[in-house]
Amino acid sequence: MNKQESGLKISNLKVKTAGKEILKGVSLKINPGEIHALMGRNGSGKSTLSYTIMGHPKYEISEGQIEFNGRNINDVSPDERAKMGLALSFQYPVAIPGVTVLNFLKTTLKAVLDREIPIKELKAMLKESMAKLEIKDEFLSRYVNDGFSGGEKKKLEILHLTLLKPKLAILDETDSGLDIDALKVVASGISALNEAGSAVLLITHYQRILNYVSPQFVHIFENGQITQTGTKELALQLEEFGYEHFAHNATKEVNYVS
Ligand SMILES: Nc1ncnc2c1ncn2[C@@H]1O[C@H](COP(=O)(O)OP(=O)(O)OP(=O)(O)O)[C@@H](O)[C@H]1O
Ligand SMILES: [Mg+2]
Repeated sequence: MNKQESGLKISNLKVKTAGKEILKGVSLKINPGEIHALMGRNGSGKSTLSYTIMGHPKYEISEGQIEFNGRNINDVSPDERAKMGLALSFQYPVAIPGVTVLNFLKTTLKAVLDREIPIKELKAMLKESMAKLEIKDEFLSRYVNDGFSGGEKKKLEILHLTLLKPKLAILDETDSGLDIDALKVVASGISALNEAGSAVLLITHYQRILNYVSPQFVHIFENGQITQTGTKELALQLEEFGYEHFAHNATKEVNYVS
């Protein structure tokens, strides 16, 4: 495989924010087209990892590196990363009162493609995904996330990603707060994104979404590190036994002295 298509490679990544080390040596390789799920307790550093991959200035890399398609991107700006094909769906999408969904999508697509997209062309590009995601036309003229329900926010995130067609889509808890029907719709949107060629890093707390989106790898994240990697089975075991079981197995054997 040539460098153009070698995917994401994170090596021994250590990251600080607000003077505190949050990521403590993360190594992760995501090849083109793969789906990886990342599961871990609240506060273990999953969102920090996703922001760091996107180049958020609040997160400072103190050691290690992030490579994307063969290039070290530690110092590459977030908009350049977006142009390279990295995209993040936020855990907490923000409202942008005054900016319509259509304009928002037009502006972000223009930034990534470096060309103006006529409204008619944009609407044609959106049509099929909107139908799949069960999004009505009126949605396009509402202000971004302003008064949106939890489910509507998550659907907009998927619609946005589908339009951007990233090489790697990072989805930070896109399944949280969805009812069962919306979960299926969003999950099929994620699968469609993957089938269209995007690799996916799916951050989630629930095994449930993995009934609809099939990852090749499941990673357990604990205290700023990946402590276990397995297949879908690992997510089922996690649901049954909880994080404590894996934390003990992975790193805390020394505590068993009884
Ligand atoms: N900008 C920041 N300023 C201060 N502390 C931060 C910042 N970002 C993250 N942290 C801290 O880093 C730790 C990891 O947070 P992070 O949001 O990455 O966890 P998470 O695994 O995504 O949790 P959750 O499952 O609840 O979403 C937390 O203790 C959090 O308070
Ligand atoms: Mg988070």
